[in-house]
Amino acid sequence: MFISFEGIEGSGKSTQIDLLESHLKELGYKVAKLREPGGTLMGEKIRDIFLQDTSEKVDPITEAFLLYASRKHLDQNFLREKINQGYIVIADRYSDATVAYQCFGKGLEKDFIDLIHNSSNLLTPDLTFYMDISAEMSRERISDREMDRMESESVEFFDRVRQGYLQIAAENPERVISLDANKSINELKDEIATKTTEKLNASLG
Ligand code: TMP
Repeated sequence: MFISFEGIEGSGKSTQIDLLESHLKELGYKVAKLREPGGTLMGEKIRDIFLQDTSEKVDPITEAFLLYASRKHLDQNFLREKINQGYIVIADRYSDATVAYQCFGKGLEKDFIDLIHNSSNLLTPDLTFYMDISAEMSRERISDREMDRMESESVEFFDRVRQGYLQIAAENPERVISLDANKSINELKDEIATKTTEKLNASLG
């Protein structure tokens, strides 16, 4: 099974990913985690390039090619292998992020992303947890971090990304579970565990 977590900066994805990993391991499942962009030797190098602060202009098309280079390489060198070996793979972001950030956030044509995505023969997550917080809350939560190239974007940018995620969630109700990420860590943990168990049971029979 392939599970992805999505959300804007500071939505608490990493905490919930770690909690779900522990929960599933306690139940006896094999779990593999990855982050995007990244997750492979080449992907981590692409991640550094992608996030590096630079005085050069970076077009969303350039971003999309970097992201899809990392994603295809991840598919070939990690994701399929782990899923075929019976692991539950938990991804800290996947392809919904490109639609939310590059298309909704930066105005890239969705048709362009659909074309690269469909031509790349990639997997779709079985289940996606979208952790929803406002752009203002996001800014507040990450204000003490040293910000990378993406984190330095404006509150208006993150609001467009958020609206993108909300639209993706509305269009894919079978796959995407939208969570109110203002709730407590424990409440969110329980909701995520319940939905994951439901999905695992449904996939068994
Ligand atoms: P993070 O997941 O560690 O926060 O950093 C990844 C950054 O890359 C984050 O700002 C979102 C951004 N990103 C995109 O813009 N498009 C994508 O497709 C992905 C996977 C990430």
